[in-house]
Amino acid sequence: MPRRWLQWLAAVSMGAVLTSPAIAQSVVADPGRGRELSESLCSTCHIVDASPGNIAKSDISSFFSIANRVDQSRERLASAIIFPHPEMPKVSFTNSELRDVISYIMSLREKK
Ligand code: HEC
Repeated sequence: MPRRWLQWLAAVSMGAVLTSPAIAQSVVADPGRGRELSESLCSTCHIVDASPGNIAKSDISSFFSIANRVDQSRERLASAIIFPHPEMPKVSFTNSELRDVISYIMSLREKK
């Protein structure tokens, strides 16, 4: 019984740590930085800006069209970026860079 109680206490205090304002702040994604990262790392192949007219660069989808795929989600993007396809060079993002790039791509999604 006391052991359970300790586990409960640990879970509760973890929750408090995760939701404390200071930490919540650092978890907010920064699409601006995501755009900078995209411009420097991805724009050799992808058109990374928001212009809907630019669908593709030599057959590779633009970030705009990627963002607007019907089934697109942060999770899909994360796996597409973490497990790159052959043509795509492996980029090692930190978690926060990955989050920023994803939030930038998702910011190109048109509100429906
Ligand atoms: C060397 C060329 C190249 C570079 C650099 C590159 N990509 Fe790609 N990427 C591709 C190709 C080729 C595909 C697959 C064809 C397509 O989806 O149009 C692709 C597909 C994707 C997809 C999958 C889209 C989907 O929904 O299936 C995502 C997401 C993506 N790239 C993100 C990125 C990000 C983020 C970067 C920069 C860190 C990047 N790519 C850099 C070539 C590249």
